[in-house]
This record gives sequence, structure tokens and C-alpha cells, in this order.
Amino acid sequence: MTTNNWWKTSTVYQIYPQSFKDSNGDGIGDLNGITESLPYLKKLGIDVIWLNPIYESPLVDNGYDISDYYKLDSQYGTMADFENLLTQTHALGIRLVMDLVVNHTSNKNKWFEESKKSQDNDYADWYIWKDPKPDGSVPNNWGSSFGGSAWTYVPERKQYYLHLYAPEQPDLNWENEEVRDAIYKMMKFWFEKGVDGFRMDTISLLSKVQSFPDAPLEPGRKYGSAYFGAANGPRIHEFLQEMNREVLSKYDVMTVGETPHTTSDQAKLYTDPERHELNMVFQFEAMHSDYGYYGRYSDLRFKLSDMRRIMNHWQLAMDGHGWNSLFWGNHDQPRAVSRFGDDGEFRVQSAKMLATVLHFQQGTPFVFQGEEIGMTNAHFTKINEYEDVEALNIYRDLKALGLDEKLIMSMLANKSRDNSRTPMQWDKTENAGFTTGTPWYQVNSNYQQVNVKQALIDPNSIFYYYKNLIKLRHDLPIISQGRFIPLSEDDSDVYAYIRQLDHQQLLVVGSFNRHKIRFAVNESFAVDQAKLLIDTYGDKPEYRKNILYLRPYEGAVLKLG
Ligand code: GLC
Ligand code: CA
Repeated sequence: MTTNNWWKTSTVYQIYPQSFKDSNGDGIGDLNGITESLPYLKKLGIDVIWLNPIYESPLVDNGYDISDYYKLDSQYGTMADFENLLTQTHALGIRLVMDLVVNHTSNKNKWFEESKKSQDNDYADWYIWKDPKPDGSVPNNWGSSFGGSAWTYVPERKQYYLHLYAPEQPDLNWENEEVRDAIYKMMKFWFEKGVDGFRMDTISLLSKVQSFPDAPLEPGRKYGSAYFGAANGPRIHEFLQEMNREVLSKYDVMTVGETPHTTSDQAKLYTDPERHELNMVFQFEAMHSDYGYYGRYSDLRFKLSDMRRIMNHWQLAMDGHGWNSLFWGNHDQPRAVSRFGDDGEFRVQSAKMLATVLHFQQGTPFVFQGEEIGMTNAHFTKINEYEDVEALNIYRDLKALGLDEKLIMSMLANKSRDNSRTPMQWDKTENAGFTTGTPWYQVNSNYQQVNVKQALIDPNSIFYYYKNLIKLRHDLPIISQGRFIPLSEDDSDVYAYIRQLDHQQLLVVGSFNRHKIRFAVNESFAVDQAKLLIDTYGDKPEYRKNILYLRPYEGAVLKLG
């Protein structure tokens, strides 16, 4: 099937269903809540909705542990509710993309329940089982990315199974053709229902090095990286080409693979249209610019120079060879405005500036629910305020390493995934209008100031700024197609670049400084002849010749031609 690559001018809105909108007062966001909120999303102007997993699940990892791919979890509603949501979404001209989680299932999936019974049954080879070492210990030193070993022993089989995530998330054996067929069949089921694509969870991990070698160990560590021997493994491209041939090529759909530990050279292999694999990938290199010795949870702040170098690299590397996804956050990241901007005095300005420097790049932007109103980190101070399996495991592991409680709490406060999972803030009534019952997870205490209702009243809100950005991407081909030209790559405070298409140029600048600062624009861009396209303060930045005077966290785009 040929498509017109509609996803290249689209903006995707990510919904974390559990925390978006509760329609029946049980405290948990649901499908009817999303359906009710469609007019809001239409007003924002987004083109595609991506839903985090809503399939039947014991919810050990909030739905990334699926027990039945053909059923929805009853907490979200019924299949009829889903079909209604899909119909209403399509009626508004919006597409709907689902999450595809096929590196692993839940341990409560019937496939696994059968598989673990014996070494000889119809599902025996559907997961990755290995004998213990002669001394009874684990087959290798791989660690789970949620902490601990990646292997769990099952007495019935006298074997260990592999789980790159929680023990309740056993990895499927993609070497087994029956497994692949079962997945393709399931994908078709959803496409036949009318779903417009998939975001593919940890898709780069499907193909494991079959010798399962030990990973190199960092000093003082017991386990090697969860991704060693699994990320971008030997048969990954073969599997995805097969999936494309068997399923994707038959539908007009969008695909975005989540590909941890992927370089731009590998990303080209995933997304080069000639290779018939995926449309784009989520890579996390820029997100790693504040990682340290303790990985994601290190108490570090990013440096603009690192972030810009990585983002520019991806812009240049992918142009003409594949396609980028663009994002500042998602359900696995803390809130962008807290992490990369200023969630205090300059919350509004810095949120708009971050959006500016991202949305003018080449790729498909993703907006995570609440980002469009500048929702912030929750600033929790106690471990019992955290829900996420990852946060709780990391807490345990860092404690065991002897780290100070206060330090751990500040690491979690800055980096935990729970920051993005607090309920969506709709208005200033109790529980932020998310539910009339008791919310499954506490609402961020700033909901009286930061909420949708407030944003819709204020013409200068972050919401209307995002609306503008989304519309500009539809209207101006230069945003999706233009060449990307980095500027001032050694500036300590300003992220600047030019986009160019034919005779047209856009100058994009974003200040990461909380004071007014000067920024000299490359002579080749005539600031005095340029028109203002958009500015976070609503008017053109002050300038003299080619020097711009940027206000705190100001973002601006000037247009020539
Ligand atoms: C992905 C998901 C994350 C989940 C993990 C395991 O990284 O985004 O939320 O915990 O995969 O499925
Ligand atoms: Ca509900």
C-alpha cells in the first residue's frame, strides 16, 4: 500500500490513559474519558493520538505487561468503548495509534503460563529458557533494566527465563517462527479494526545474541547492561522486514519504534524507506545528556552544549536517509519544563521556548499529555509517594549501595517516571477535574495554577502557543522538508539554527538563560529584513543589526522570503 507520508507533517499527542480523564468516578482514567476529551484535542489541532497500552494486564508495569493482546483491560472500558473512541476520533480527522508490546508479555499471559509448565509443551519454546550453570546460578550476568538479575528460576522446568524488565515481563523468543506469526496475526486484528499504526515498545531488543554472552561489568557492579546482547541484535532487521512484508505494508499506517541504545547509523537502518522497516524511531541520546554514574537517576543537570550537539547530529544524520521523532518527554521521562526549562518563575516562557526549538526541527513531534499546558514534576519527597516499579527498585538498589536517603529522594524527584504519570490537570476543582472519585495516583499540588481551563482562557497560554506550532507545521513545507543548518554551536545559552527550503529561510533561536542576553546572528541572515513568524513573548525580539537581545527563556522564529 502506498501512503502519502501523512505522518511527516503530523503532530502526535501521547495519552497515558490511566492518568488522562476518568469518566466513571473509579479514579482511573478510561476510554470514555478520552472520547469526552476529543474536542479539546481537536482544538489543539493534533493529527494523531498515541495511546499507551490498554490491553488486559496485571499492571505490574502499568500495562507494559500484557496478559491478553486481544482484550482490553476492563479498567479502561469495553471493546465497544474502544470502537466508539476510534470512530469519534476518525470523525474529527484524527488518527489513533496503539502501543505494541512484543518484546515481552505478562507472566500471566496464557502463552507463558503454558510455557513454564514443562520443557515439552506447545508453548515450551515461546520464551527464552536456559539451564542453570553447573553450580545452579543464573545463565549469564545480564541485569534487568528495572534492577536485579534478568533471569528468574522456575522449578517446574528447572530452568531460568529471561526478562530484560520485571520478572513479571518474560521476554518472548523471536527466534521461534510461531511466536512471530502469532504477533503478526494480532497486529492485523487491530489494523482490521481501523487502528492507524503502532508505537513499538523496546523494539530494538527483539533479537538476542544467541550465545547469551556475559556483559562487561563496571567496577563494583554485579550485573551487566540489560541491553547487552539484545539491543540491535543480529536478526532485528530481518524480523522487522518480515513484519513489514507480512503486515505493515498492507495498511496505510504509521510506525515508530522505541529503540533504546541506537546510534544514528542504526536508526537509518530502521527508518530508511528503501529498507521497508519502520517510519521513525524514538532514540534517547539527547535524554541521556543528564545521565551519570547511576544512569537515569543520577543527580545531574543537562548542559545545553551536550544536548545541542546530539540533536544537531541527529538532524543532519537523518536528513534524506530516514526520519526523526521529536520529543522532550513521555511517560518514561520526567516533565520537560522541570528538566530542561524552569518550572518556577519562567515556567510559561521556558515551556514555550523548549517547544519552539523542538517543533521547528525535521521530524514528527510528539506532545506528551499535559506538556501543552506546562505541567511540571511533582516534587515528591517521600518514597511512599512513588508508584512505579522502576522507582521502587532503584530506591532499593541505591539504598543497598549505601546512598544517603536525601540524595536518593532528590534523584527520584528529578528523574522518576512518576513525574509524568500524575493525573492530567483539567481545572482547579478537587483532583484537578481528573476524577470525581479518589484518583489512583495523587494530583500534582500545583493544579490550581496549572490546568487546562486556565490555559484555554488565557490567549498567551502555552496551549495556544502549541496550537500555533502545530498549525505552522501543516502550513509551511519548510518545517518538515527544509535543510537544517546549525548555528553558533559553541554558544553557552542559545540554541539556534536555520531551516532552508528554496529561497526561504527560518531562523530559530531559543535562550536557555533566565536573564536578558545578547546573541549575534550569523551575518548571512538579515535580521532587519526578516518577518516575525512566532515568538514566546508575542513580539519580535529587540535587535540592533545582527544582534538579538533575548529576554529570559525567549524563543523566536524569524522568516526570510
Ligand atoms: C518501554 C516503555 C516503558 C516500559 C518498558 C518495558 O521503555 O516505554 O514504560 O516500562 O518499555 O515494557
Ligand atoms: Ca474510570
